[in-house]
Amino acid sequence: MRDAADLTWLDVVGPDDYAQNGYPHEAWKRLRDEAPIRWFDLEGGVGFWSVVRRADIVWLSKQPMRFINAPRLAVFERGGPVADRSAVRQLLNMDPPEHGAFRGAASHWFTPRAIRARHSEVERITRDLLDEMAGDGETREADFVGDLTAPLTLAVLADMLGVPREDWRLMFEWTNAIAGSSDPEYQTSDNPQQQVGAARDNLFRYFAELAADRLKNPQDDITSVLTHARIDGSPLPPLELLSYFLLLVVAGNETTRNAASGGLLALIENPAEFDKLRKQPDVDTAVEEIVRWTAPVIQFCRTTVEDVEMHGQKIPAGDAFCLFYPAANRDEKHFDEPERFRVDRRPNPHLGFGIGEHFCLGANLARLELRVIFQQLAERMEAVELAGPVDRMRSSFLGGVKRMPIRYRLRPSA
Ligand code: HEM
Repeated sequence: MRDAADLTWLDVVGPDDYAQNGYPHEAWKRLRDEAPIRWFDLEGGVGFWSVVRRADIVWLSKQPMRFINAPRLAVFERGGPVADRSAVRQLLNMDPPEHGAFRGAASHWFTPRAIRARHSEVERITRDLLDEMAGDGETREADFVGDLTAPLTLAVLADMLGVPREDWRLMFEWTNAIAGSSDPEYQTSDNPQQQVGAARDNLFRYFAELAADRLKNPQDDITSVLTHARIDGSPLPPLELLSYFLLLVVAGNETTRNAASGGLLALIENPAEFDKLRKQPDVDTAVEEIVRWTAPVIQFCRTTVEDVEMHGQKIPAGDAFCLFYPAANRDEKHFDEPERFRVDRRPNPHLGFGIGEHFCLGANLARLELRVIFQQLAERMEAVELAGPVDRMRSSFLGGVKRMPIRYRLRPSA
């Protein structure tokens, strides 16, 4: 049995626990209250300091020269797969000033204005998928992930990258192989590092061809933008260019998919909140609460370049901090009744998209997709309940929902 006074039982990076029980909010609360900065040994790997309070994550994230991203992307079980910078070089393992220059190569594609221009396309994709699920409006069963959130986020991203429809499936497979490398269902090899490497190589080969085509025939897509981008007058080197695509494919798929799936689950578990959304739809506010509540990115790391003291702990240069975003999103000091899901929560200073130098580049796109999905669900979903257990991904990096069977009645579109 767990001894309440002893913090050693806490397991905040064990993927089995995440697959079986979801996020360890009880453990994070204990840490917030009793040990805001705490060292964890990692079997077979290098340990880390866990950071669980909102103010501490903000403080660390806003000093990108002192607390850097490069050496360690996140904490993985048994230390792997590690962020090998000779294999992948992307925004999340770059630091200033290089990071800003590379981010600038794509950032104009993600401004609120640029994303607004994609609204009708996202609406059309969502409506088509929901129409298919609706039938004639009778009670039906479906897998919300397989039938809505996975194809939707994939279609939006593939469209932006200019990937033709017949290849969308490949992107889905690579992103599962990379993001789900700890999950037996997605394991194609005994060695997660090897599996991630193989998926990366396939993705690189694919985008090298697509980029070569766009170099000659530019189109209105991010692949063309990145292929023609210049940093200090030179094109992006091949590794950096291909890594950019890998980052967008993984970061843009898994996260929004899981926020949308987890968002509907929260509405099913809190029917009064779903009623509120149907009667007085303020979808933008609800979307922020969905991101706070689901917090699909569990953690990223920062490494300190100098000795530092936090909460009385002396931390030597070279040690890594693991920033737990879902823990910050339940911080009692910043959220009233953080354990309650409230679609009208305001203010909502969540850190679901991170903060500071590496703040999520795709936040405007994710918000647009979530707004469109929950707007349409609020208008059309007349009844919904779970039709079986929610199947979670075995990962302590991304909070994945693999399958979510639902029984529902959706109004056919007018
Ligand atoms: C609900 C959906 C999403 C969530 C919760 C999310 C969360 C995050 C988080 C926590 C970070 C790291 C922030 C930090 O270290 O301060 C991040 C970075 C990033 N995200 Fe997202 N993300 C989402 C959707 C997307 C989408 C749709 C895209 C792109 C199409 C995207 C692209 C990126 C990129 C490129 C970065 C790296 C930014 C940098 O290092 O400068 N994300 N995201």
